Amino acid sequence: KAGKRMRLLEVNKEAAKYFYYMLRDPRGEVGMRYLTGRKLTDETMHHFGLGYAGKNGEQVVQYLRKKGFTDEEIKDSGLAMFSEQRGLRSQFWNRVMFPIQDINHRVIGFGGRVMGDGEPKYLNSPETMIFDKRRNLYGLNFARTARTGNIILCEGYMDVIAMHQAGFTQAVASLGTAFTVEQANLLHRYAENILLAYDSDGAGTKAALRGIGILREAGLTGKVINMRPYKDPDEFIKNLGKEAFQERIDQAENSFYFEIRILSEQYDQSDPEQRTKFHREIAQKLCEFSEDLERENYLQAIAEKYMIRPDDLRKMVIGYASQTG
Ligand code: UTP
Ligand code: MN
Ligand code: MN
Ligand code: MN
Ligand code: MN
Repeated sequence: KAGKRMRLLEVNKEAAKYFYYMLRDPRGEVGMRYLTGRKLTDETMHHFGLGYAGKNGEQVVQYLRKKGFTDEEIKDSGLAMFSEQRGLRSQFWNRVMFPIQDINHRVIGFGGRVMGDGEPKYLNSPETMIFDKRRNLYGLNFARTARTGNIILCEGYMDVIAMHQAGFTQAVASLGTAFTVEQANLLHRYAENILLAYDSDGAGTKAALRGIGILREAGLTGKVINMRPYKDPDEFIKNLGKEAFQERIDQAENSFYFEIRILSEQYDQSDPEQRTKFHREIAQKLCEFSEDLERENYLQAIAEKYMIRPDDLRKMVIGYASQTG
């Protein structure tokens, strides 16, 4: 079994090499043009081992066979699938390729992006014997040695790469799936503070709220970086540069304030009934703090922010706390 894992890592390593050389080959010119258009330097492309999957899904399979891998090994690596009509074919073709590495820089899977519009935008390797999406994070192989005291968690491959290129080498992304407790525990080995740099759209906000809960569960503190008016870190940095991004890091919002602010947007503050409901929600959330002092500090800060009498809020909190024990 360990031997099989080794073989699958070898398949991925060779495939990554193939994609890497294709990107630098005349046949990979479209890929190179795409990545250059997204403002990546040659050095960045090299650092992340970016590549290009050829025009059809057959070439990489041929290449891997020539390197001595069996069809079963190629299939089990998740790179290729077997079809009755066409035999073994890579699912990746005509895409720019992002090798996904574990913390020891071993390639465990791939993400491939269409150039321009097309569905799906990103295709990812399926889970395999060596690729567990819940327990890996894109960019962590570099971020773990960043020694910045914090880690920036974002949504996408391009966000990680753009941040690293701008000097924020502590950036990582969950792998096209929701952030997991396992990933949070992994991050806890390297940092206590996690800065969330999720997309500024509705989906990103929802993901951030979910992420905050998971971080708390893992005993980590979270802060939220505001990306507006841009969509994500990649676009922010492309438009405003790294100094502006550093300012946003410095101004990152306490995750509890963020949660309450998002909550406040769901209630019409001029309507007494809705305002009351909002206050109840705050009181309930304050109950989540087990330490009295911390709860009281947040209570006072939130009361001031939203112009609630602290005594009223405190009574509500005590009421809820006695209900839930
Ligand atoms: P986004 O849709 O926000 O894309 O997905 P992006 O990262 O900003 O990509 P660009 O800038 O258009 O290239 C965020 C992440 O979600 C996963 C990928 O990991 C992506 O980076 N995703 C997205 C998929 O796995 N499949 C998809 O079809 C789309
Ligand atoms: Mn800790
Ligand atoms: Mn998105
Ligand atoms: Mn993007
Ligand atoms: Mn995005």
